[in-house]
Amino acid sequence: MVSFAKGVIAMSLPKVYVGLPIQDAGLEILQGKVDFRVWDKEGAPPRDLLFSELKDAEGLLSGLPIKVDAELLGAAPKLKVVSNYAVGFDNIDVAEATRRGICVTNTPEVLTAATADTTFALILASARRIMEANAFLRSGEWKVWHPELMVGRQVAGSTIGIVGLGQIGYEVAKRAKGFDMEILYFDVRPNPEAESRFGAKFVKLDELLRESDFVTLHCNLNDSTRGLIGEKELRSMKKTAILINAARGPLVDQEMLYKACKENWIWGAGLDVYNKEPVPLDEPLLTLSNVTTFPHIASATRTARNGMAVRSAENLLAVLQGNKPRDLVNKEVWK
Ligand code: GLV
Ligand code: GLV
Repeated sequence: MVSFAKGVIAMSLPKVYVGLPIQDAGLEILQGKVDFRVWDKEGAPPRDLLFSELKDAEGLLSGLPIKVDAELLGAAPKLKVVSNYAVGFDNIDVAEATRRGICVTNTPEVLTAATADTTFALILASARRIMEANAFLRSGEWKVWHPELMVGRQVAGSTIGIVGLGQIGYEVAKRAKGFDMEILYFDVRPNPEAESRFGAKFVKLDELLRESDFVTLHCNLNDSTRGLIGEKELRSMKKTAILINAARGPLVDQEMLYKACKENWIWGAGLDVYNKEPVPLDEPLLTLSNVTTFPHIASATRTARNGMAVRSAENLLAVLQGNKPRDLVNKEVWK
């Protein structure tokens, strides 16, 4: 009788699918608490595998390569939580999850510093032509020290325009302060702390675009921010300005950005994200020496990625244990 009861308990561990090979620090949290399987092969899990895994799963640990759309949610009758291993969650149909009472969680805070650091890497690499300079040396073209060799733009003392002053934007402002930059920002609401600590000035988007030497995007991707930076916005920037995007590709009209960089409406761009990822190698932006390109690595530090693994595992487990998760995106599902 007793062993039967134990057996029932063991059998009844909730089933979870971990759709990407997260760090052990996260998997250890799930160990013994849920019955989980991990996708650990190249690329994203195939759709048909996701459908079969989610037939009886109560939890999905998802990530950017996994499109959690209405069709997939509709085929997961027992699903209680989609825990995203990312701060962004535009890969998930949150409205549909909410309609079905499924919790959606993300991983803020743990990747904020890493993302702000990468933003500064893009700023410095673009302004100082670092990728181009590195390739120049290695190709054997460096013959003599020359006063005009690889001359770029000065970061120190310039003006930065931060579009979206949330946690990541705030950390970017902190770094900008250290570079003696003048800080403009645009958001749906002012941030008095950034104003008093860093002297950040709240302005309208058109003023930010006109006045900034660096325009850097740190807002969520949603229907109101998609295509935020298009032809009009790019044409209103200084000819010497640089656009930085370490948030989401579709915030920018990428074809127009190519034109703007190619025809020198602006000085260049530094990008970590694209409208299609991985970027196809025939993407025209990749032909331009004034565009610095990283492969969506803003949060790729050991510290941040371990933090994301832990946080996404904790959020998932919280829901399955009947507790409110720390990072609930769709708060209205929690009654
Ligand atoms: C990465 O892009 C994230 O949203 O965490
Ligand atoms: C970055 O990915 C963000 O969500 O701002």
